[in-house]
Amino acid sequence: MSEKVQFENIHPILDKEHTDIFKAINKVIITTNRHWDNKKKRTLIVKSIKQLYKKCDKHWKTEEKYFKMGLKNMPPEHQEIEKKINKHRKKHIKMLDTIIKIRNKATTTNPIKSIMKVRNATIKHINDDDVEHFHWL
Ligand SMILES: [Fe+2]
Ligand SMILES: [Fe+2]
Repeated sequence: MSEKVQFENIHPILDKEHTDIFKAINKVIITTNRHWDNKKKRTLIVKSIKQLYKKCDKHWKTEEKYFKMGLKNMPPEHQEIEKKINKHRKKHIKMLDTIIKIRNKATTTNPIKSIMKVRNATIKHINDDDVEHFHWL
């Protein structure tokens, strides 16, 4: 269930944080597989989802720092990019919302399916949005 994920390398700090996010996702999957059948232990699943939230939140903050850096040094022909950056930011906010929703029902609804969706969306996000917006790093 926890096979290797392939995503584009962009920059050492971003790559490391992306790797940490996928590790946290794997941890949720492993924890769920191990403990779902024991209702008392489902709190461990909630805990692993909280860890995932933290890793994502930390990473979005790093990207926010680079957005600001990039916007400051924007070449004139790139001005349109600001709208795209705002879309990028919205995707981060939406992802955190999704993770909170999954966490809130993780003791009654097995989170694996939803977490796999988060995983695929994150791979797509890195390859489509992060690559485009942090190519200059
Ligand atoms: Fe990212
Ligand atoms: Fe991003």
